[in-house]
Amino acid sequence: MIIAIDGPAAAGKGTLSRRLAAEFFLAHLDTGLLYRAVAARVISLDLDPLDEKAVSGVARNIGKIKAAEGELREEKVGLVASVIATQKEVRLALLKYQREFSKAPPGSALGAILDGRDVGSVVLPAADVKIFVTASQEARAERRYRELLGRGVPSIRSRVLQEIRERDERDCRRKLSPLVPSEDALLLDTTEMDADSAFEAAKAFVVQVSGAR
Ligand code: C5P
Repeated sequence: MIIAIDGPAAAGKGTLSRRLAAEFFLAHLDTGLLYRAVAARVISLDLDPLDEKAVSGVARNIGKIKAAEGELREEKVGLVASVIATQKEVRLALLKYQREFSKAPPGSALGAILDGRDVGSVVLPAADVKIFVTASQEARAERRYRELLGRGVPSIRSRVLQEIRERDERDCRRKLSPLVPSEDALLLDTTEMDADSAFEAAKAFVVQVSGAR
């Protein structure tokens, strides 16, 4: 079984995907981490994020990039990720990696679940189940702000909201693989939902569409 989860920044895709992966014995790939890994390498090598040739060279070596998840989760890495994610060669290199993962998920998994922006629309258009998770910008910013505080990262609420807006703007308006729900995706607006209700709704949809139990 292949599941595609898409949605804007801080919509709760990661938590939902990890829970669905455990429920249905699937290998999980957070595709945002791939873009973040490229961005972190670009930053550490002091490359210009707009230098497409240099950035695509980094992306083609994605399998070799070693990075700690804590570092990748930094907001500045997310912002640079959304810049390099507009570049064609970068997307092509990462597309290959994502499709290979879904074809041969690691371990004894029964399939794969990938979450990102364009998994259902571009990476795996034939996925068995597609879910588009969203929430208002304010709700997402509030969740991200609390998550950052929980991790001990000093943050300013209004700044977090501003960064979410910037990333939404870039992810939705870019020419290549913009963030749009696929027609056959379940739209899950979690503005008024907690993580448990979002999981229950998504799980019911997976069972309904795929017949899995
Ligand atoms: O999901 P996350 O916030 O970690 O993603 C970081 C950035 O990577 C996004 O803002 C987006 O620009 C880019 N991305 C993408 N396509 C994906 C996943 C992430 O363009 N499938």
